[in-house]
Amino acid sequence: MSSRKSLEKAIGRIGDLPAIPEVVSQVLQLTEDSNVALADVSKVIERDPALTAKLLKVSNSPYYGMKQVVGTLKLALVILGAREVRNIVLGVSVVDSLRDKTTERFFEHMDFWNHSAMVGGLAKKAGTRFNLGLQGEDFISGLLHDIGKIVMWRQIGRPYEALLAGAGGHSAALIEAEKEAYDFDHADAAAVLAHKWNLPDTLGDALYYHHPREGQSLGDAKDPKLAALVQIANQAAHDNWAAEDKMSLISCANDAAWNVLFDNKKVMELDDRVSLLSGYHTELANAPAPVF
Ligand SMILES: [Fe+2]
Ligand SMILES: [Fe+2]
Repeated sequence: MSSRKSLEKAIGRIGDLPAIPEVVSQVLQLTEDSNVALADVSKVIERDPALTAKLLKVSNSPYYGMKQVVGTLKLALVILGAREVRNIVLGVSVVDSLRDKTTERFFEHMDFWNHSAMVGGLAKKAGTRFNLGLQGEDFISGLLHDIGKIVMWRQIGRPYEALLAGAGGHSAALIEAEKEAYDFDHADAAAVLAHKWNLPDTLGDALYYHHPREGQSLGDAKDPKLAALVQIANQAAHDNWAAEDKMSLISCANDAAWNVLFDNKKVMELDDRVSLLSGYHTELANAPAPVF
């Protein structure tokens, strides 16, 4: 992300970003060693029963798609492994840190978290299907992809609400309006927050690239496949799956992202993309909305 400095300047002009919450930095410390011990992860999470409960809720939700019920932290660590548990806890902690009563009133109302969980669930399912070897990064990148909207809402308030409403749920229109009004968009804001909070670069770049960026390539992301996956998942969450014309399904027509997913080799055919993603979308749309 080459223009981070200028973005920080632009975002800094309209207010301070929230400081990194204690729990997020604690969870992040666990990532420094990629072979982190189960006992160490367990110790940090155990101290916070609410966090433990949320970890189990997420792991057992249809959006996470586990085949087995995970009833305890110990079992979660055995089945998922320390790194994946750490990732889920990281996602949940970031969500918690950005939520407060005022933010919630607005964001619940816009169905923000349902959309976020849908993108997380779609990314997780597709990431698993394509054997990307991700350990929860798919789910949390999807879950957090739009947090830049919260950052902007907290800083700008009502004028940003009006801008969001004006875009009427159309991603391209929203990005354009944000850029015109503030010189940056919510994907930029998310990436700057991720950087400030020392979130992993793979995650920060997945947020930064969740909408196709003019003149920039997914290949420049720290983990291009993760970024491509989240871009497709977000488009799939917005697509109208009842449409007759399959080419109108932006998630399926996004060749640039599919090429990255398949290393430009034997890329999945359009019809197969449609049946795969529409199947995942239907499964998740019929699942109970996740509460965590
Ligand atoms: Fe977005
Ligand atoms: Fe989105």
